[in-house]
Amino acid sequence: MIPRQQLSPVSPSLPAIAADVMEGLFRTPKSLPPKLLYDDKGSALFEQITCLPEYYPTRTEAAIFRTHADEICSRLGRNVSVAELGAGTATKTRILLRSLLQRQFKVNYFPLDVSAAALQIAKHEVESELESVRVHPHVGDFEDLTFLKRQAPPRLVLYIGSSIGNLERNQAISLLRNIAAHLSKGDQLLLGTDLVKDSEILHAAYNDSAGVTASFNKNLLVRINRELGGHFEPDTFSHVSFWNQAASRMELHLESAIPQSVRIDALDLRLRFGQGERIHTENSYKYTLECLESLLNNGGFEVEHTWTDPLSWFAVTLAVIT
Ligand code: SAH
Ligand code: AVI
Repeated sequence: MIPRQQLSPVSPSLPAIAADVMEGLFRTPKSLPPKLLYDDKGSALFEQITCLPEYYPTRTEAAIFRTHADEICSRLGRNVSVAELGAGTATKTRILLRSLLQRQFKVNYFPLDVSAAALQIAKHEVESELESVRVHPHVGDFEDLTFLKRQAPPRLVLYIGSSIGNLERNQAISLLRNIAAHLSKGDQLLLGTDLVKDSEILHAAYNDSAGVTASFNKNLLVRINRELGGHFEPDTFSHVSFWNQAASRMELHLESAIPQSVRIDALDLRLRFGQGERIHTENSYKYTLECLESLLNNGGFEVEHTWTDPLSWFAVTLAVIT
């Protein structure tokens, strides 16, 4: 990997994604960070994914919330404020907020996301349904958690939707430690994590028959074309997703169907792709309950309680700073 500072300097006037694209496409094998999947179009495509029959995580986690929201809320501090990392449109979060309002008069809710479009929908939907929730959205990256300083104690941080699965283990631990550093004794984290299961179920969830996940993946090339003057022809790339048993993760790639070279004007770059060469765009790690507990402990949290669905496909874990 080439350290970012050794690449030909990326001008500060270029879009924010320039440095990440440059760094990722200079790697061997080529890769791009998954957060780039979420421009306005990508966020809308993710919303479609959550409704696909094959994509079980969203509806499974929502069912856990619907079944156990009261019990989850009964284990929270009195009059908590709620922050959320990668909130998206906060559709599932509303289940929890609704239940929380049966225990406290108002809630201050601080959602963080890289997608301004998703946060705008979140604010509108939450405030129209739940008058007593004040939404304080923050557009930004998990790398900077200073927005958590605005949250008054006692605090609950939500990190749901198995977004932690998109991080490498070391990244997940540093993120948890960073969250913990912003919290005090007794503050809590509610983590939603997808669990290891039959590989056929996993394969179908990331290779849906309507091709929405393929569009979500290829939209990354459309985004580079639009924001960086790229000349990718998305139809010459195939969506490839498979279960990597050894690493316990689903992988998403874009595979060049032909040998080709692609210019990216804003980066003054011409990239060569061999036939079958891939860009690695996302990992989605699947956990066991044991690995999850060890991850949380390493991140500075103690597990208080875990709820799962009847098939044990998904886990919602309440953890606390001790
Ligand atoms: N929590 C929602 C959305 C999950 S999709 C749910 O459970 O359905 C993942 C969300 O995380 C997207 O909205 C995406 O824009 C956001 N995201 C991805 N990488 C991010 C990063 N590095 N910093 C902040 N938000 C990020
Ligand atoms: C946001 N994240 C947890 C999703 C996942 O399942 O890893 C993103 C996604 N990628 C393809 N489909 C959904």
